[in-house]
Amino acid sequence: MDVTLREVRDADLPVFFAQMNDPEGIRMAAFTAEDPSDRALFDAHWARNRRNPENVMRTVLADDGEIAGHAAVFGPPEEREVTYWIGRAYWGRGAATAALRELLGVVPDRPLYARAAADNAGSVRVLEKCGFVLTGHERGFANARGEEIDEVVLTLAEQTSDHTSD
Ligand SMILES: CC(C)(COP(=O)(O)OP(=O)(O)OC[C@H]1O[C@@H](n2cnc3c(N)ncnc32)[C@H](O)[C@@H]1OP(=O)(O)O)[C@@H](O)C(=O)NCCC(=O)NCCS
Repeated sequence: MDVTLREVRDADLPVFFAQMNDPEGIRMAAFTAEDPSDRALFDAHWARNRRNPENVMRTVLADDGEIAGHAAVFGPPEEREVTYWIGRAYWGRGAATAALRELLGVVPDRPLYARAAADNAGSVRVLEKCGFVLTGHERGFANARGEEIDEVVLTLAEQTSDHTSD
């Protein structure tokens, strides 16, 4: 699916909130807010992140013009991370892969990191399709699972040039 990225608008937030309260998505992502249904915390979190000029936060529009989800890059220069969430109605149609590819095209920072629950096969696959490679294993407390689980770290390295100097 072709997607378009644009700046996040206030009117997008209720859609993100609903998407990020989908029980299946929450279980999958695992490392979620302690209470994803707390709208006040959600609003505060988004307001803070949108105010931070170092963050690149984008709404993902599907080919039908509707909001498929969001994708973002955040964090200090040495720890820049990507994150994304696609609403369940759009799963399995290439939206996350297309959105991450677009985002990587507008954010030149490398390396970039990503974290996922080790059993989030969809997210790991999206990252690998976009050039990230598995670089680490950690354990972390996953609010959505109520316990510590395996987490993987993936890295998109500096681009290596094919050019050989003479
Ligand atoms: C994980 C997620 C981003 C995948 O989005 P998507 O738009 O369905 O992904 P794509 O259609 O681009 O799929 C990319 C690849 O992942 C695979 N994939 C997608 N979901 C999968 C799943 N649940 N299990 C196994 N593979 C999956 C697809 O088959 C495809 O691989 P292929 O091209 O080799 O066939 C989406 O399910 C989601 O947002 N989930 C909830 C939030 C979340 O987990 N965010 C990431 C936190 S790290």
